[in-house]
Amino acid sequence: MAPYPATAFISDQLKTLPEAPTVDLTGRTVIVTGGNAGLGYECAKKLAFMNPAKLIIACRSISKGQEAAGSIKEAADGNCQPEVWQLDLADMKQTLSFGQKCLDELDRLDIFLSNAGISPMGKNEKDMAESGYELTLQVNNISNTLLCHQLLPLMQKTAQLPPPSASLTNFKPHLTIVASDRHYSISQIPQTEPILRTMSDISLPGNRYEETKAINLLNAIPLAELAGESVIVNTCSPGWCYSGLIRNLQFPLKYIHRIPMAILARTGEQGSRCIIWATISDVPNGSYCDTMEVREPSDYVISEEGKTTASKLYKEMKDIWKTAGYIATD
Ligand SMILES: NC(=O)c1ccc[n+]([C@@H]2O[C@H](COP(=O)([O-])OP(=O)(O)OC[C@H]3O[C@@H](n4cnc5c(N)ncnc54)[C@H](OP(=O)(O)O)[C@@H]3O)[C@@H](O)[C@H]2O)c1
Repeated sequence: MAPYPATAFISDQLKTLPEAPTVDLTGRTVIVTGGNAGLGYECAKKLAFMNPAKLIIACRSISKGQEAAGSIKEAADGNCQPEVWQLDLADMKQTLSFGQKCLDELDRLDIFLSNAGISPMGKNEKDMAESGYELTLQVNNISNTLLCHQLLPLMQKTAQLPPPSASLTNFKPHLTIVASDRHYSISQIPQTEPILRTMSDISLPGNRYEETKAINLLNAIPLAELAGESVIVNTCSPGWCYSGLIRNLQFPLKYIHRIPMAILARTGEQGSRCIIWATISDVPNGSYCDTMEVREPSDYVISEEGKTTASKLYKEMKDIWKTAGYIATD
């Protein structure tokens, strides 16, 4: 495993992070999934200050999205009015409709920040999505990657357009998937094929959240290959941050957790600096970004076994997407 021992984690968490970089997004279009809460909200707020022509908060609750959009508009002194579009990644058909709406209504897409995610951490029972796949896999991986795949051609088209105004510098479209440094703890995901069906057996032990975050990195491999030279596909970790992610933690863990969190956790705003860094920096296509720098992912992700598993997962997902009516030919 690429070294990420506890000492490195602690040292990262205690670092004073610089402010997030900024770029002029005048005339450009940005989507943040899960932009209504937690890290996604903090990222959407930072992006609003960069003056995009269109900032879309994609979220499953329109009312929560509108509340967030109102706060962001106020913070940006009315200079950005985010739109709120419905997206429930637990529902593959709705995910597909969201993607189609983007293709129908947007003439460009400069940043797709795939941030929304869930953790079953602390839940005694895992939930199943309507598709028959375990919910965390459905939301964090199957639907998430479907949307990335669907939107990539629009981003490639955007890359061919001239900058929205002559005074603006070129900006390569970025498709950034929010993963986690927790992926380093996974040395292998289950190998029995079909893998996603095996992993949907809710009696199977395993660190499901960490596994889905490792799969985020594996899924980025074929996406980066498809993106070619014109779009930057990358993954990132915001570090350990306060957010709603651990809302399922139960007594006594819920309280025990608070002690290391108080010492080590970043605020959502601090975590969002790392995500924003990944989503506007000129980093190599396919890279993994953590604590505002490009880092080597785990040995598993970059191993031959990891790459083979990435191909298998991609093939399985294409078959699953087909059941919702999406045919991925490449
Ligand atoms: N916090 C951390 O320490 C940490 C560390 C590493 C990585 N991350 C990653 O950061 C990302 C954001 O998480 P967070 O920490 O900000 O957690 P959060 O506060 O729970 O926010 C998660 C966001 O995802 C949305 N979401 C959940 N299920 C969804 C679904 N089915 N369809 C559409 N949106 C859905 C949530 O919407 P609702 O408001 O409707 O629930 C919310 O907007 C996740 O990918 C997470 O894995 C977090």
